Amino acid sequence: MKLYIITGVSRGLGAALAEALIDPAHQLICMARSKPPLAALRTRAKAQGCRVAALSVDLGNPKKAATVLQKALANVDPATCTDACLINNAGVVEPIGPADKLLPDDISAGVLVNLAAPMALTAAFLRHTAGWNATRKVLNISSGAAHKAYAGWSMYGATKAALDQFTRCVALEQQGRPNGARIVALAPGVIDTAMQTAVRNTPLENFAEKPRFVALKENGQLTSPAQAAQRLLDYLERPGFGSTPVDDVRRP
Ligand SMILES: NC(=O)c1ccc[n+]([C@@H]2O[C@H](COP(=O)([O-])OP(=O)(O)OC[C@H]3O[C@@H](n4cnc5c(N)ncnc54)[C@H](OP(=O)(O)O)[C@@H]3O)[C@@H](O)[C@H]2O)c1
Repeated sequence: MKLYIITGVSRGLGAALAEALIDPAHQLICMARSKPPLAALRTRAKAQGCRVAALSVDLGNPKKAATVLQKALANVDPATCTDACLINNAGVVEPIGPADKLLPDDISAGVLVNLAAPMALTAAFLRHTAGWNATRKVLNISSGAAHKAYAGWSMYGATKAALDQFTRCVALEQQGRPNGARIVALAPGVIDTAMQTAVRNTPLENFAEKPRFVALKENGQLTSPAQAAQRLLDYLERPGFGSTPVDDVRRP
């Protein structure tokens, strides 16, 4: 059995990842806040003989999210698990705007979801699975905005850059450990999701690069969530997964 833990499964890339991973040979632990998509996922997975725990969790509370993950992992039989993979996919691009317009609560909310929650979930996953014989992997969904600075995306870019650095540090820690986990922060390309809609709906004064993203949509240059999910899952299966801790799925 292959175990996949995926956050942000209620729409966009995470929903496509969860959909692609429904398989009787897989066990899924899925998280998001919105309950109706979680219920629908539960129904589809069960109909196809795939064990799933679809859990309504607010990643704005990383401590609680880590506890939920620990409890869900306690229901997994490590003896039957050949592969265990955590995909930290959930993320928020907002608040968008120049830093002098951002409010403390909005900044904190973004940092919790984009950075503190994936860090806490990674920590819980690594702790809980440390004694397992399964191959262990963590895939953190990053962004090109971790490297390229965009005016208006200071919260987003800063949290993704920090997620990349977190990933580099953990990769070093796990190297050389018995059955150490392999970990990658991966930029997934530009995907046609609600996050891109939010970007296109941002007032120009808050995001000067908006026309570029509007053009990507108009010119059909956005990847579909299903295509993006498949590229990420193919990446996950590469034999050298983990050899480049910070990577871009578009890199040949
Ligand atoms: N779309 C792109 O072009 C693009 C490009 C580069 C990187 N990315 C990255 O790809 C990942 C997926 O993005 P997407 O485009 O699929 O975004 P999306 O369509 O906006 O979906 C975001 C997901 O994150 C979940 N989420 C947000 N806040 C949450 C919270 N407080 N607690 C729990 N779950 C929460 C949402 O679920 P609920 O609202 O139901 O909680 C939703 O399932 C993100 O990390 C994003 O930064 C996207």
